[in-house]
Amino acid sequence: PRSAFRNADGVLEVGGVAVTELAEDYQTPLFVYDEDDFRSRCAQMHEAFGPYGRVHYASKAFLCGEVARWVQDEGLSLDVCTGGELALALHAGFPAERIALHGNNKSEDELDAALAAGVGDVVLDSMVEIERLDRLAGERGTVADVLIRITPGVEAHTHEFIATAHEDQKFGFAIAGGAAMEAIRAVFATENLRLVGLHSHIGSQIFEIDGFELAAHRVLGLLAEVVEEFGVEKTKQIELLDLGGGLGIAYLPDDDPLPVSTLAQALAQIVRRESEQLGLPMPKIAVEPGRAIAGPAGITLYRVGTIKDVALEGKTARRYVSVDGGMSDNIRTVLYDAEYDVRLVSRTSEAQAVVCRVVGKHCESGDIVVRDCWLPADLAPGDLLAIGATGAYCYSMSSRYNLVPRPAVVAVQGGRSRPILRRETVEDFLSLEVVNE
Ligand code: LLP
Repeated sequence: PRSAFRNADGVLEVGGVAVTELAEDYQTPLFVYDEDDFRSRCAQMHEAFGPYGRVHYASKAFLCGEVARWVQDEGLSLDVCTGGELALALHAGFPAERIALHGNNKSEDELDAALAAGVGDVVLDSMVEIERLDRLAGERGTVADVLIRITPGVEAHTHEFIATAHEDQKFGFAIAGGAAMEAIRAVFATENLRLVGLHSHIGSQIFEIDGFELAAHRVLGLLAEVVEEFGVEKTKQIELLDLGGGLGIAYLPDDDPLPVSTLAQALAQIVRRESEQLGLPMPKIAVEPGRAIAGPAGITLYRVGTIKDVALEGKTARRYVSVDGGMSDNIRTVLYDAEYDVRLVSRTSEAQAVVCRVVGKHCESGDIVVRDCWLPADLAPGDLLAIGATGAYCYSMSSRYNLVPRPAVVAVQGGRSRPILRRETVEDFLSLEVVNE
């Protein structure tokens, strides 16, 4: 986070609060969000993209009531992709008309809850959903604004599991082969759906603009065909080009993500140029960043529990540093080979740095938090480690594996901390038990 500094004692402070104090007050592992950092990233997105359209914060990166209020305050809209995320956003008082519902398998209940709440729009992902939402909207006597998720066939340069616009995957309707056009025809043929935009999301943790450019080019090309087929009058409500999320962040000191304002201007320029060439009016542009807002705003604090040097054949030993969390609060290392920056933060050390592997406490050898890193040779049980940029897709993808309770989440700002999600307890687990007489 932007507010992370070492104080005179060599202890890291975030938002003006020493991590030693946070660990004392809330225990570890602990997610710490710098509220000003999170809010300023929202504001920056709003400022950069606002003139061209709108920004949705992607809830999946991390959502709780407090975060929903930050997003709302900063003027952003919200993407949800399940009934759970929708319910949480509504519970937090997020205005329904600023919520968009995503997902590739929205149940009748989820779609109906969205209609009942009056969400802004629904992004449709299959023929089944088109039929389903049309019927449900008809039953409620309402017309739903929808976008169609398009697969533009772009290979984003990112990990296979988070790349989404190549054709052989579950999301969207491919332009190639005509599926997208068929879906659009199907929406036009309904009574209760109104097509307001086209959507594409090419993947996540992207550092180059060319993937977005190609996606915009292809989706606008499709839009031109739609206008050709249905005429200007019937298609003029298709105002929104949603280019999804995916803006990469720095996980390691040398990572160099695109500045948000550069991205916004470049995308607007591309969309303007392409629209002009196709004789289309300039659409509004929507983006859906999750990671770029939440990621850098959060860190994880762990306490070192054990340290073990394991002899390796023909090489020096490998030092395993075990912390009090692991793959239950950060699955990203295991799942995507994600890399993180880890630091000793409860003190400084003059000791030589040695190669370490930071591992968790789960019963699995793959339970690695940071595969290879340098930590001081005098690292000892009780020291605090911080992992940077864990604000996105760590808590939200957390599990209860080995019945390790989910960590607490705190917000820091102006020298104060406050809990925003309490730590799970064993009682929480026990409360799920069903007693059959
Ligand atoms: N919009 C849509 C339709 C998405 O599917 C996603 C992410 C986003 C927006 C937000 O993408 P972002 O700006 O956060 O990159 N668990 C993975 C990331 C999966 C992203 C899935 N969809 C990870 O930890 O890297």
